[in-house]
Amino acid sequence: MSIATPPAPIFDKGLANTIVAETQMSFIDGGKGVLEYVGIDIDSLARKSTFEECVYLLWNRKLPTTPELNSFTESLRAHYALPPGMTDLIRSIPRDATPMHALRTLISALSLFDPEADAEGEEPNARKALRMLAQTPALIAGFDRYRKGKSIVEPDPTLSMASNFLWMLNGAVPTAAVARALDVCLILHADHGLNASTFAARVTMSTLSDLYSAIVTAIGTLKGPLHGGANEEVMVMLKEIGSLDRVEDYVMERLARKDRIMGFGHRVYKAFDPRATYLKTFARQVSADTGNLALYEMSRRIEDIMAREVAAKGIYPNVDFYSATTYHSIGIDLDLFTCMFAMSRIAGWAGHCLEQLEGNRLIRPGAAYIGPHAQPYIDIANR
Ligand code: COA
Repeated sequence: MSIATPPAPIFDKGLANTIVAETQMSFIDGGKGVLEYVGIDIDSLARKSTFEECVYLLWNRKLPTTPELNSFTESLRAHYALPPGMTDLIRSIPRDATPMHALRTLISALSLFDPEADAEGEEPNARKALRMLAQTPALIAGFDRYRKGKSIVEPDPTLSMASNFLWMLNGAVPTAAVARALDVCLILHADHGLNASTFAARVTMSTLSDLYSAIVTAIGTLKGPLHGGANEEVMVMLKEIGSLDRVEDYVMERLARKDRIMGFGHRVYKAFDPRATYLKTFARQVSADTGNLALYEMSRRIEDIMAREVAAKGIYPNVDFYSATTYHSIGIDLDLFTCMFAMSRIAGWAGHCLEQLEGNRLIRPGAAYIGPHAQPYIDIANR
């Protein structure tokens, strides 16, 4: 019996031209600036939907009826509280730890308290996904309060994901406008094709490891400034610039040095990032309402300069650009921005992990070896 020769591998640095998985959750057309969740455009979802409804949509591949949404929301809220023991763990983390390191560690620790941590199959995995999504806000808010020397606030199961997070963070129920601002950011970040962190999660899942390990892998990948860390860098940049009259010089100097302007450019979007469209309008409103209009105006000026200087390269604002102003305006600390992204993207990561298991094949690309061959082994005494 002869074994068919596999096709010769191709070299595709960064995997930009390689498709390794199928998904029914989000569709991206980077050239046209389109993003859809299960066929519904992101702009409509940002304007009309809620984060909870979008998670249901992504995980069930259909919009829920009212009873379905109520029941899903109820199950989420029933799991807001952390398992006993987790609060002690939060208090054992050094107060000066970076929140993303803390979040990665705490999500990993959640598995220690979950009797189903290693349970396989669609239903246990769906339950774990729901619990992780529901409990992540308490991890982030709990760590933030602890590091500031404040008492940890218990979740309120009568509140939405966004409101409950802000309640646990600030110890006060947010206004409807502020809660909606966070809700919109959560909707916009929930899923985005096979981005770096989602790919990382699927690689871990493809080894038949567990969902906690896959999400921990994803959080570590999200943390990088070329991925989820960019929203923090945007805020650092806005603070560095300081005022509207300094924008032109700052941007031009950076571009002359060939430095990147954070919050611009995207591997797949070579048109306006569709997630930034509504967020831009929204950021204006939220920043005006909260006395932060100067930040928005600086952002608009940067956008104009970038349009004049580099739009020909297909460099436009991405979702991180206006989410920075929005998060700052609703009172979220700079070093929590990437945690906000993670809190939402757990929906996408978990959904992809379940999809990976539907027709799993170990993801294992190759590397082109460029080192030497046929080298002699030299005894240590003679090196
Ligand atoms: N500011 C200025 N120029 C930029 C730029 C930015 N943010 N992003 C890309 N460019 C330029 C590059 O310098 C390059 O120019 P050149 O062809 O003259 O050398 C060209 O655009 C293509 O860039 P490239 O690095 O090949 O694009 P990529 O697809 O590999 O990178 C990003 C995509 C996201 C990594 C990149 O745009 C970036 O670093 N952006 C800033 C970080 C950020 O906001 N990340 C969040 C993504 S949601």
